[in-house]
Formats: sequence, structure tokens, C-alpha cells
Amino acid sequence: MRLSLRLLSSVVQKRPFYITTPIFYVNAAPHLGHLYTAVVADAIQRFEKLTNPDCNVIFSTGTDEHGTKIQQAAAQANLPLQDYCNNISQEYKDLFDEFEVGYTDYIRTTEERHKKAVRHFWTKLVKQDYIYKAKYAGWYSVNDEAFVPESHTREEMTKDGKIKVSVESGHQLEWTEETNYMFRLSAFKTHLQEWLKPDGVIQPSKFQKQLQDFLASDAYFPDISVSRPSSRVHWAVRVPDDEEQSIYVWLDALINYLTVCGYPDEEQLMSRRAWPADVHVVGKDILKFHGIYWPAFLMAARWQPPRRLVCHSHWTVDGSKMSKSLGNVVAPRSVPAPAALRYVLLREATLADDANYSETKLVNIANSELADTLGNLASRACGAALNPRHELPPPHAHELRDVARREPAARLLRALERLPEICHQHYSSYQFYKGVDAVIHVLHLANLFFETMKPWELKKKPEGQKELDVVLHITLETLRICSIILQPIIPSLSGRLLDKLQVPRDCRYWQHCERPSWRIKGAIFETKNIQSGKFVLFQRIYVDKKNVHKKKAIV
Ligand code: MSP
Repeated sequence: MRLSLRLLSSVVQKRPFYITTPIFYVNAAPHLGHLYTAVVADAIQRFEKLTNPDCNVIFSTGTDEHGTKIQQAAAQANLPLQDYCNNISQEYKDLFDEFEVGYTDYIRTTEERHKKAVRHFWTKLVKQDYIYKAKYAGWYSVNDEAFVPESHTREEMTKDGKIKVSVESGHQLEWTEETNYMFRLSAFKTHLQEWLKPDGVIQPSKFQKQLQDFLASDAYFPDISVSRPSSRVHWAVRVPDDEEQSIYVWLDALINYLTVCGYPDEEQLMSRRAWPADVHVVGKDILKFHGIYWPAFLMAARWQPPRRLVCHSHWTVDGSKMSKSLGNVVAPRSVPAPAALRYVLLREATLADDANYSETKLVNIANSELADTLGNLASRACGAALNPRHELPPPHAHELRDVARREPAARLLRALERLPEICHQHYSSYQFYKGVDAVIHVLHLANLFFETMKPWELKKKPEGQKELDVVLHITLETLRICSIILQPIIPSLSGRLLDKLQVPRDCRYWQHCERPSWRIKGAIFETKNIQSGKFVLFQRIYVDKKNVHKKKAIV
């Protein structure tokens, strides 16, 4: 009886929502581009939880620690390999904690559980006869940890003479001739085409089209090398039963997505019902690895490919690609207002195109939107000057009708009532910038409404009290709805605002922002308290050339 109950509960266990970030190379400290990948994934999982309160989310991130690149970086840092990996992996973890990346699983490829998964997966590929040994000769990019076909290379003149580089990444290539294990990728072309047929497998659609075109072209679609001689790459998982060969870092790295769900314990993996992953978030530079190699590896091992890839473009800095040699790598903690960085990354970037970071842009956006449009409105509506009893007053029916008929209130109310649906659409299609734009538009209308209603004058006359109550009610309701919607973008800032408004934790889900209070049928309004005390949501940033001063927002 007990056994069958357990069986039953595993059968009926709800499927979790499983989302991943790529795992990050530990060859250097994290920068703004890395953080961006992680916050995109985090915003998606927070939105999922917001709209689906019972949903169990598995959100994995971590570090990719094997391969030549890491060997070289550790040697340069003059540190034992594992110590070197531990340090950088911890840096990523600390960064994600600081920037509110709410992962549930942190995976490292040097962990024993993962190495076990990689060896098991390899054996599966061998059993299915998708791996064979062959002599391989070709160009290899250590930086991309990838072989590059001749047709994708070009020559470049440097001060040391001519070198070969990858057309795609611009990274230097080395000619390599060695015996490798090969994976029969060529056997999967039609299967991959089938997988990529339905719309929405890769979002935005531009990236799906890129892969479809690649597969449709008559371009040579060769098998790929999936091992390297251990003599060259010793910091890697060895091929089972062949110490001389090490497993290719990309095969090793991709398997992390299975390790997180319990693989190679297939029973655990099945009972958790986490596979296939719902979303892999990836940058466009690693789309081929996730959209071609990974589904092919999975199909070969008899696992389903992921349900969806969400692919993003890159951040450039002052117009150039971020690179160590250009010295323009932005460390997330070094920006003038780290608290605003997450907001700016999600507010500015579209997935389809590259975005450009500049300090001036960060400061301007943070000041005008977080400090002024949102923060200042909150400070005024909650502040002692206009709201000395610190309350959310009721929207007296007669006065509300009267105010709502006049502009600009009418515009605000129309926009506010449509806002949740609009944002839901944008967030569901991962267009966070459009959602934030809609919120900011409503907040501009709310500021205009507030100014036009002159609450400070209403306050002076006793007959203005009810109208003042309505102005405060509409403004605080607008702030409540906007804060709920902004939770995936700025979790702690919106959390502070919701705390200030004393919105209970279990009333912060999407369903709670769908209607403003006056649209809830049969609602009885009572005066509610909000937290007392001065409220500054975001301190204005003053940049004085090299020195950055922060001052309190003017309330
Ligand atoms: N280790 C591989 C991923 C293996 S996943 C099985 C890797 N690591 S990475 O550290 O180089 O990159 C991790 C993520 O950071 C990628 O999604 C990449 O696109 C992203 N970014 C790195 N630089 C970036 C920008 N300048 N802008 C935006 N994202 C960028 O690739």
C-alpha cells in the first residue's frame, strides 16, 4: 500500500519549470555581459513564479571549469588548478547573490556528481554507436574551445606576422592534427530540422531562422571531434576506458543541464519530471552549441531536446566589443550605481540586437526613472507633507467618478487598467524592455496626474480632503500595480516599495495586479496603514567627472 502510494505520488508530481543559464568559464572574472545572461534567466523564472504561484522552479547556473583555456589561466595566475577554479567560481556565485539571481542549483563541472554524469553520457553515446575514433586535422580556437572549418577562417596580419583567425569570433586559431573520437553529428541533420520546425523553439525567431538556414544550406555538415589528447588537455574528464583521451569541454559542459536533474540516476531524473528543460538562456555566440550540438547529443543518447532556447545578443561598451585587450571590460560592481545595473540591463537590451553600455546612460536612466519617476512619486505620495497619517485612504465613490472624468486622470486610469495585460504579453515573449517601457509610461502619466491635481493645495482646504484622498489612493494604487509588475526586473527595490505600502507577501502575485482596487466588484474600502517614516527608494547619483557622489533624492 505504502509503495503504491509513493508510486502514485511520483506519477502525479507536478512538472517543475526548469530554466538554466549557460555555465560560465572560470578563465577570468565575471563582467557585465555574463551578469546579463544570468539576469535574463532570473527575470524569466521570477515572472514564471509570479504568474504561477504553485510552480516549482528549478533554476540552475554555475561554472564551466575544464579545458585548455582554464589550464592556461591558472598557469598565468600561478595557482593550482582546483584552487584557481574555486576562486573564480566563488566570484560568480557572490556576484549572482549580490545581483539577486535567485538560482536554486549551482553546478560546477569539476564536481564528482557531474564527472559521473559525463562518463555515463559518453558510454551511452558509444553504446548507441554514435562515437568512433578517427584522425582529425583542422583549425582549433582555444578561446572558443571549438574546431573551426577552413571556410570560416581568415588571415590577419599582426606585428608577429600572419595568423589565422575565426571569422565568427575573431579569435586566433592553431593548426591541430591528432587522433580524436568523433561524434556522428551528420546523422542528425534531418532530426534537427524537424525539431526546429515549430515556431518558438528558439526565441527571438531571428535566431531560429539562422539555424534553419544553416541546416537548409548545402553546407558541409561534418561529424565533430568530441575528445582531445589528454597530453594536451589534462584538465578534463577522461574518456572512459581510454586515459589518453579527454572529453571535449563543450560535451562535458552541456551535460551539466542533465546533472542538475539528477542524471545519471535516471530514476531520479524521471521522477523529478524536470527533463526536458523548459528554457536554456544563451548568448548568440553559443547558439550553435545549444541549437545544433546539444539537441543532437541528446537525441543520440535517447533524451528529448530542450523545449526552448532564449537567445540574446551582446553588450558592447562605448560602441566596442568588451575585451580584456581593449581594457573596456565592465565589472558589475564597479559601475556608479550597482543597484540600478540590473534595471538598466533589462530595460535597455532587446534580445535580437546588441546593446551599448555607457556610464552616462546608466546614470541618466537610474536618475530619471528609478530616482525621479518612480522613487520621487512614491516619496511624495507616502511622505508626511501630503500623507501625515501614513495611510492608503479610500477612493470615495463620488469624488473618484468626478476625478476620473477629468484629464489627465482619465488617461492614467485607462493606461493603468491595460498595463498588466500589456506587460504580461511582453514578459511572456521575453521582451522585458517593452514591459518596463509600458510601466514607465504609466508612471509618467501618474506624475502628471499628481502635479495637475495639486494635492498640496487640496490639503489646505477642508473641502479638498476627499479629493486629496482620491489623488493619494490612485497614486498609491498605481505604485502598487507597477511594483508588482517590476518584481522580475528589480526584485528588492519593488519589494521595498511593496513593504512600504504594506502589501502582504501573498498578495504580490500577478493576479493581484490585474485590477486596480476600484475595479474589484463589491470591494469595501477601509483606510489602510502604510509604513511610516521617510522613504527614499533610490538615491540620485551625481557624477562629478571622475568622482561619483550619491545624494538623497529630492523629495
Ligand atoms: N562556458 C560556455 C558556456 C557553456 S554552457 C553549457 C561559455 N561561457 S562564457 O563565460 O564565455 O559565456 C557565458 C555567457 O555569457 C554566454 O551566454 C555569453 O553569450 C555571455 N556573454 C559573454 N559576453 C557577453 C557580452 N558582452 N554581452 C552579453 N552576453 C555575453 O560560453
